[in-house]
Amino acid sequence: MCGIVGYVGEEQAAPILLEGLAKLEYRGYDSAGIAVRNETSGDISIVKAKGRLKILSEKTDNGRSVHGTCGIGHTRWATHGEPSENNAHPHCTDDKSVVLVHNGIIENYQELKDKLVKSGYTFYSQTDTEIAVKLVDYYYKKTGTPLEALTRSMLRIRGSYAFGVMFHDHPGKLFAARKDSPLIIGRSSSGSLIASDVPAILDKTRHVYYIDNMEIAELTKDEVHFYNIDREEIQKEIVEIKWDAESAEKGGYEHFMLKEIHEQPKAVQDMIGAYVKDGAIDFSEVGLDDAALKEFERIYIVACGSAYHVGMAGKYVFEDLARIPVEVDLASEFRYRNPIVAPNSLVIIVSQSGETADSLAALRLMKEREVPVMGIVNVVGSSIARESDYTLYTYAGPEISVATTKAYSTQLIAMYLLAIQAAKEKEMIDDDRYAELLAEMETLPSKIQKTLDDKERIQWFASKYANARDIFFIGRGLDYAISLEGSLKMKEISYIHSEAYAAGELKHGPISLVENGILVVGVLTQSDLFEKTLSNMVEVKSRGAYLMGLTTYGNYNIEDTADFSVYVPKTEEYFTTSLAIVPLQLMGYYVSVAKGLDVDKPRNLAKSVTVE
Ligand code: M6R
Repeated sequence: MCGIVGYVGEEQAAPILLEGLAKLEYRGYDSAGIAVRNETSGDISIVKAKGRLKILSEKTDNGRSVHGTCGIGHTRWATHGEPSENNAHPHCTDDKSVVLVHNGIIENYQELKDKLVKSGYTFYSQTDTEIAVKLVDYYYKKTGTPLEALTRSMLRIRGSYAFGVMFHDHPGKLFAARKDSPLIIGRSSSGSLIASDVPAILDKTRHVYYIDNMEIAELTKDEVHFYNIDREEIQKEIVEIKWDAESAEKGGYEHFMLKEIHEQPKAVQDMIGAYVKDGAIDFSEVGLDDAALKEFERIYIVACGSAYHVGMAGKYVFEDLARIPVEVDLASEFRYRNPIVAPNSLVIIVSQSGETADSLAALRLMKEREVPVMGIVNVVGSSIARESDYTLYTYAGPEISVATTKAYSTQLIAMYLLAIQAAKEKEMIDDDRYAELLAEMETLPSKIQKTLDDKERIQWFASKYANARDIFFIGRGLDYAISLEGSLKMKEISYIHSEAYAAGELKHGPISLVENGILVVGVLTQSDLFEKTLSNMVEVKSRGAYLMGLTTYGNYNIEDTADFSVYVPKTEEYFTTSLAIVPLQLMGYYVSVAKGLDVDKPRNLAKSVTVE
């Protein structure tokens, strides 16, 4: 989704803005632009380009042709109006008295536009952002102070926004404001920065402030001041980001996705290490004590996309191991269906970015109803992390590729840890079983590595199926949860239509789709369901399907049925999702590469879906 970078300091702004925007490319965008103020002339230059950032870089000689030490930049992902140079940000008033970049959506833009047209403003783009900049200008002309212009505009705007703003009359200053769209402020040795996401400024600083909803920041090269909506100055603590700049680089891999797939053993190791200490699970960092965990009688897991699939896997583990009923919901459904949440329930929101609009809305709905909420989140300081009652960080490090891999894997570990601890507290397992489960979990990083070591076979197989039209994934129980994620990986980066079906459902409709040569991937890691899924595979094979079987070492009889077999190491069956997902991630990746697609930035998708 859109990205924002701003800089005011001693260095030339344009190269910093372009470098920062490049770090946000992974969020998805269709046009980009920068605005930089020249201190000598006082003029603000705005340069925009449709398409890739490299076009903007070429237009500005990598930023060298745009002089000035104060500026804002933006990558746009079209919501209102087509992708075009005219609709790209920054937007400004006719006299360039106010220049602004915006992430988010202004819901009452038509009403505001009508008012501004009556006041004599003309509009040149189809964007809601142009309404924002002109509204700020309207109040600026009325009040004469940037702070009042911003706060009065914020009170009029309905929707979500992160703004970076320059006022022509206030050289050497940047302003930032937000509501429901992420924005951070950084301080470096040479100046102050704004960014919609950490990687944009990691090269410059690891010291940031988080702006909360309805707050404003005023930045100069030497300092930053924060204000609330009543224009009262507020104090904030600076936070150190632990991620290093290299972790947001490709590090020799062709794509971020491949790098992140290979980082899974370490991410899983870090995740386990963060919460398992001296042979016991320790949630003190989360703020959740074991007594509180024991009291929850029902769990609701709410999330979107892959995080929802983690919830599906979590349900099977929680219910079987801890005997706690679990409901799993898509956040976009949950928030609008007036959900009934039983007393003594815990709602778990799972989100890599911590900014997904529907997940955040579900969290806020639960908080309004005073239901305890846990956020399982990767991005430190994100909205879901900050607004949850309990925050369980996933320690995957920055994930850049739109298709999630390592964050998904660490979210799974979070589910196992919670389920195991709940099982212990509810006395569903004894100390020996507890120790056995933890010991087996510790082996997962090396088993994931072993699975990765087998990647050439997957690469070879993927190249055969690069031109497939449809692919089906089938499985039962946890294998169904794996199938859902495998299918999403395939469709989002290879653009091949794929579906996941609970294998037992085939006869209730989907089997009529099976025809000669269609690829069906059967996932069979659960011993008690192996025979059942195998017989479903036989059924589709007899209707012409080509079969890939994914199971654990030792189940070699699958080769009697499957045309191509993939094996993962044996582990505790609750944990097989962590291993079986790896070949499916690789398969999606290699099909996408074989088709020559933009693996890390698939069409129409954004890394962080901050609008619904
Ligand atoms: O940041 P979140 O975990 O809340 O994002 C949820 C989904 O948008 C995300 O998992 C999406 O489905 C991924 N592209 C899947 O790879």
